[in-house]
Amino acid sequence: MMDNLKIDHTDGIATVYISRPDAMNALNLKTLSELIVVLQQAYQQADYKGVIITGDGEKAFVAGADIKELAALTRDQALAFAQNGQRLFKLIEDCPKPVIAAVNGYALGGGCELAMACHIRIAAEEARFGQPEVNLGIIPGYGGTQRLTQLVGRGKALELMMTGDMVEAQQALAVGLVNHVVPREELMAFATSMMKRILSKGPFAVSQVIRSVNAGFAQQDAGYAAEAESFAACVNTHDFREGTDAFINKRQPKFKGE
Ligand code: COA
Repeated sequence: MMDNLKIDHTDGIATVYISRPDAMNALNLKTLSELIVVLQQAYQQADYKGVIITGDGEKAFVAGADIKELAALTRDQALAFAQNGQRLFKLIEDCPKPVIAAVNGYALGGGCELAMACHIRIAAEEARFGQPEVNLGIIPGYGGTQRLTQLVGRGKALELMMTGDMVEAQQALAVGLVNHVVPREELMAFATSMMKRILSKGPFAVSQVIRSVNAGFAQQDAGYAAEAESFAACVNTHDFREGTDAFINKRQPKFKGE
């Protein structure tokens, strides 16, 4: 029994709803560990042929890592926190079974990073994407600096991560961040139908497509280590304490650059 995930397992397709209605489905550590369990099952069990990840409710896919948990971390804890998330997202990216993100609303911070770790992204028209970590005086720590750059190119990735701006689903489509945009009411049917199309192909061949594409990026692994270190370094700053306190207390932050 999962606390923060609802899972519908039909015809070999596990549809995973991330469900933390009071926190815009933000990824706390419990949710991450539940997702790890699902991914391990997907790797090991024949009755998992593919996974669709979506957000429960109308508003959010996932609005990031849990800022309230994040705010309390020391530098060492922050390094472990980033590495833990990076491990899960790599598990998703390298999963030999197809993983599709059905992005139903806000996909911010760790939510955008989660969607980007999936093999394919389908967005509802209302979905919003962004890496707003700089608003908190921190950087993406779950692989966003690497995967956003891979998907949209260095220039647009730097703009999105340096401004923290959100983009609408159609803009996300235009820059290659998502594969398709569909009306909200068609989102799950569209994702499921694409999954079924993939599952009708040779499963070993599909797994080897994933493996081969990912192998081409293997030499970039140093980027993930740099990201986790930078993420942890940010946690040690005045600006991070100010940014998270401002978010929690619903006020504008005053950054000092220290
Ligand atoms: N972590 C923890 N709690 C979060 C959260 C997060 N990432 N995102 C939202 N929440 C909580 C809010 O604190 C609020 O809780 P409260 O009702 O106890 O005050 C609740 O979810 C609803 O969020 P709220 O901001 O009031 O909703 P909104 O509709 O005005 O705005 C968002 C929605 C997604 C734009 C806004 O919540 C947001 O900017 N979230 C943070 C995004 C972010 O910076 N993510 C990166 C984290 S590293």
